[in-house]
Amino acid sequence: MRAAIVFLLSTLLPLSLSHGRDPFAWLYSRRSGGYNYGSLQADTTGGACPDECDCPPTFPVAMYCDGRGLTAMPAIPSRIKYLYLQNNAITAVPDSALVNATNLVWLMMHHNQLTSDAIGMKAFLKLEALERLYLQHNNLTSIPSNLPRSLRDLRINNNNIEKITPANFEGMDNLTILYLHENAVTEMGISLKDLKSLTLLDISSNKLTKVPEGLPENLHQLYLESNSIDSLPESFLSRFTQLQYVRMAHNQLTDKGIPPNTFNVTGLVELDLSFNKLERIPPVSTTLQHLYLQANQIKEFTLGSFCTAVDVTNFSKLRTLRLDGNEIGQQDIPSESTLCLRQASTIEI
Ligand SMILES: *[C@@H]1O[C@H](CO)[C@@H](O)[C@H](O)[C@H]1NC(C)=O
Ligand SMILES: *[C@@H]1O[C@H](CO)[C@@H](O)[C@H](O)[C@H]1NC(C)=O
Ligand SMILES: *[C@@H]1O[C@H](CO)[C@@H](O)[C@H](O)[C@H]1NC(C)=O
Ligand SMILES: *[C@@H]1O[C@H](CO)[C@@H](O)[C@H](O)[C@H]1NC(C)=O
Ligand SMILES: *[C@@H]1O[C@H](CO)[C@@H](O)[C@H](O)[C@H]1NC(C)=O
Repeated sequence: MRAAIVFLLSTLLPLSLSHGRDPFAWLYSRRSGGYNYGSLQADTTGGACPDECDCPPTFPVAMYCDGRGLTAMPAIPSRIKYLYLQNNAITAVPDSALVNATNLVWLMMHHNQLTSDAIGMKAFLKLEALERLYLQHNNLTSIPSNLPRSLRDLRINNNNIEKITPANFEGMDNLTILYLHENAVTEMGISLKDLKSLTLLDISSNKLTKVPEGLPENLHQLYLESNSIDSLPESFLSRFTQLQYVRMAHNQLTDKGIPPNTFNVTGLVELDLSFNKLERIPPVSTTLQHLYLQANQIKEFTLGSFCTAVDVTNFSKLRTLRLDGNEIGQQDIPSESTLCLRQASTIEI
């Protein structure tokens, strides 16, 4: 967004110079590295811009404090809706830090030094309009308490979170995107059950040994790769009506751990089961388009996993099939497969 604004201003620049007063002085001083103009701005709506931040007059509800070596939270004028604090070294968010910031809609705090102990129990409590909260790449060991129920997009990946409890996400009816990848989660119970708007869940690169229970039914994308999952629950995917992308690469899945017909569900577009311990190609729906099975221990090309009957209308919609790094070769693909896999443009073996 900022890039767009700067672009717009630079195209208008020649016009502004023809007037005596240059309203874009703030832009030049940003470029020359000074930040002292901030406090000179008119305080029309709830507090001046702190010296260490930029509040563009053309976009007065945004405050840019990113990448400035900050170690503590700045004062935040109450008018601010979009707050950029990423890429600093902020260590704490005390209960008082956001008391005036009740209009915040976006709060970007990724790439800081936040630890869970240094986030007040009520730090985020009053942010009743907050929709995006970015906390990825910090040093958190738990999900902060009392996160606003209004959140739509919560990113808290690349921390050290070990446990997630039902209270963490309770009542977050509008949460659509949840990034939890690259943490140390071993256990999440039924903590995701109430997230009825959730469409994208990324819990890859954690320490899960099973699929979380009570996954929300509106998921479109489910990313579980790089965990230690060795088996799947019965009818694991049949509850979902919108699910299109399932990624479970780099787990410990075996044939025995996968109940029959688990992946034979319509709607699925992409299924990634690469880098597991499968010895057979699991049966999949004819509507699946991309299937990744490379680096397993597959010993046989079972055409029946893709088509049970082949006729004019009944064939696999598979376009990508990767089987490289298994125990089969090109000679194992039966010639009839061209009828069934007639749309496959890439078969790697
Ligand atoms: C909040 O606003 C009050 C009243 O304007 C002010 O005294 C206080 O310093 C502000 N606190 C923060 C953290 O900005
Ligand atoms: C956060 O983690 C990094 C990397 O593990 C470490 O260097 C840094 O000291 C930690 N910061 C705090 C405040 O704990
Ligand atoms: C979810 O969004 C709707 C529509 O924008 C809003 O009315 C409702 O209050 C939100 N729910 C929560 C829990 O904030
Ligand atoms: C998938 O399920 C359908 C019916 O639900 C069945 O007709 C078909 O044979 C199954 N596909 C495979 C590959 O087992
Ligand atoms: C495909 O074949 C299956 C099994 O023979 C049959 O149940 C299904 O109706 C066929 N689908 C189409 C679109 O012909």
